[in-house]
Amino acid sequence: MKKIAVLTSGGDSPGMNAAIRSVALKANYHQVEPIAVQYGYRGLIEKNFLPLMNYNLEDMVPMGGTKLYTSRFPEFSEEGVQKEALANLRAENIDGLVVIGGDGSYKGALALANLGFPTVAIPGTIDNDVGGTDFSIGFDTAINTAVDAIDKIRDTATSHERIFVVEVMGRKAGDIAYWSAISTGADMAVIPEVDFTIDGILKDIDNSRLLGNKRYIIVLSEGVMKGHELADQLSADGRHKLRVSQLGHIQRGGSPSPKDRVIATRLASAAVEALLEGESGIAIGMRNTRAERNKISDVLERDSNFISEINSKRFDFLFG
Ligand code: ADP
Ligand code: F6P
Repeated sequence: MKKIAVLTSGGDSPGMNAAIRSVALKANYHQVEPIAVQYGYRGLIEKNFLPLMNYNLEDMVPMGGTKLYTSRFPEFSEEGVQKEALANLRAENIDGLVVIGGDGSYKGALALANLGFPTVAIPGTIDNDVGGTDFSIGFDTAINTAVDAIDKIRDTATSHERIFVVEVMGRKAGDIAYWSAISTGADMAVIPEVDFTIDGILKDIDNSRLLGNKRYIIVLSEGVMKGHELADQLSADGRHKLRVSQLGHIQRGGSPSPKDRVIATRLASAAVEALLEGESGIAIGMRNTRAERNKISDVLERDSNFISEINSKRFDFLFG
């Protein structure tokens, strides 16, 4: 291989820049020219190719977001568009591609691999909803941000003896809600993976009050419903007034945690290695601190690694 390209796709996540730099350094070490593709799959169509060594790699590791920019480009589901991308990659004499993104981006990577273009994916999303890995790049930073925010909300909730719904991101996955709820000692996590009832939550609020607790914090995953919808349902009987806080896109930004920087660096390096060894259509994930190769087709159905542990939305499996 003489040229390897890298792109970031879908929602940006903290640590993507560390991954991009790692692709550049690893490729360079093997005398392979690293190429940046800007704006994700859209850049393959718009021919946004640039030499990656022209970027200021020196200070990239601590930077949030993605220096390659990203996009949502639904057109990439069409085979004709994928073939156009393939032709553009070939016209640039690019021999392999590293895709950094979530499960949607994995589907694009698989499509290119199926068309015969050597493509390897690594998980970059705050949602942690990608199979074949314990953690995706950006998740650790996102939960640190959410925990910081919920800790602050707890202070004011306790002072006013209030009930709060804190809505966090995660798309269809409850990981951000689950991890940040446990980390903050929240009273309830409402996540897509576990059934709940409004009545059940109301009873739990009553129990919590009987125990003398001053506040009640519900961490709600956006995949269930919006924060104000849950608050409306919980206040419908007129007994409670709730406050709602939607953490929103602050969860996607900021300087990556050391863990995300290390995971990103290692996964990207392993991706280049895999391409140089002739692999394609695979994803590199982190399993028990080791970089692991899996077929993308095998990891598209996420192997939920924590949900099986949960038998109660109120963490009874921990405290029962
Ligand atoms: P993420 O990668 O974070 O899950 P998206 O679901 O938005 O984010 O997917 C990112 C991009 O991946 C999409 O905008 C599209 O370009 C590409 N993509 C998503 N689904 C497919 C698909 N079925 N086939 C090909 N490309 C896809
Ligand atoms: O996939 C990352 C994510 O931040 C999800 O948690 C969220 O649902 C979505 O992206 C938001 O996307 P957008 O920035 O396009 O509104």
